[in-house]
Amino acid sequence: MVTDLPESVPRHVAIIMDGNGRWAEERHRPRLFGHKAGVDSVREVVRTAREIGISVLTLYAFSTENWNRPSGEVRGLMTLLKNYLQAELRTMLQNDIQLRCLGEQAKLPMDVNQILEQTIAETRACRSMVLNLALSYGGRNELVHAVQAIVRKCQEGRLDWRAVSESTINEHLFTAGLPDPDLLIRTGGEHRLSNFLLWQASYTELYFTDTRWPDFKRNDFLHAIHIYHHRQRRYGRTGAQVAGSKEQ
Ligand code: FPP
Repeated sequence: MVTDLPESVPRHVAIIMDGNGRWAEERHRPRLFGHKAGVDSVREVVRTAREIGISVLTLYAFSTENWNRPSGEVRGLMTLLKNYLQAELRTMLQNDIQLRCLGEQAKLPMDVNQILEQTIAETRACRSMVLNLALSYGGRNELVHAVQAIVRKCQEGRLDWRAVSESTINEHLFTAGLPDPDLLIRTGGEHRLSNFLLWQASYTELYFTDTRWPDFKRNDFLHAIHIYHHRQRRYGRTGAQVAGSKEQ
């Protein structure tokens, strides 16, 4: 396990915070107990990310599919989110952290949406790190939104369909203006993307750990960054080409 600060850090880290429910069930407690414990890990990972100089941290806090969970669990998660935002505004401002949201924000309960809007507005000028919360987020849903916006612009004559490129799609995603994730961490032992950042994760390094999210703390995060540091990102090139370009 690594406790030293890493030599170099990825610009954008995305996390699927999985395993809260099982963590609670293993302790014979209700699932919400696991989500509550998960908020402590959120705080610790945000603090560590800011400390080591990560520019963008994206957390998958609630997916489009999570609306299908029992209503009590959904309500509980929304309350946790609201409390977190209320409690963290001062810390975000003190640490120069800008809050953003990915997803269908309008689907969130009005009180959550209000506090979210307020926090986004109040942290707009912060520049040291972007904290992106994926809320009511689905990668396919995001692509549908992007395609609809592009088609509308083409129909209205504001965009020529022949000019539609990868950049056009990037500019119409919720992540417009942000770099693609360099590293995607999934806790909780499952090995899948679960509809997270499908377009943006094309060349992202994936890191899976069995550790449940409530147990994922500073050292676990630093360990994932350390593993990332030793990966060779080839983007379709050969290992020799990549090594050669590093030497030049
Ligand atoms: C997945 O675990 C986790 C979630 C659906 C919610 C994640 C939410 C938090 C960590 C707390 C609130 C977030 C913020 C940003 C304050 P699961 O319930 O699917 O776990 P399981 O796979 O073990 O059942």
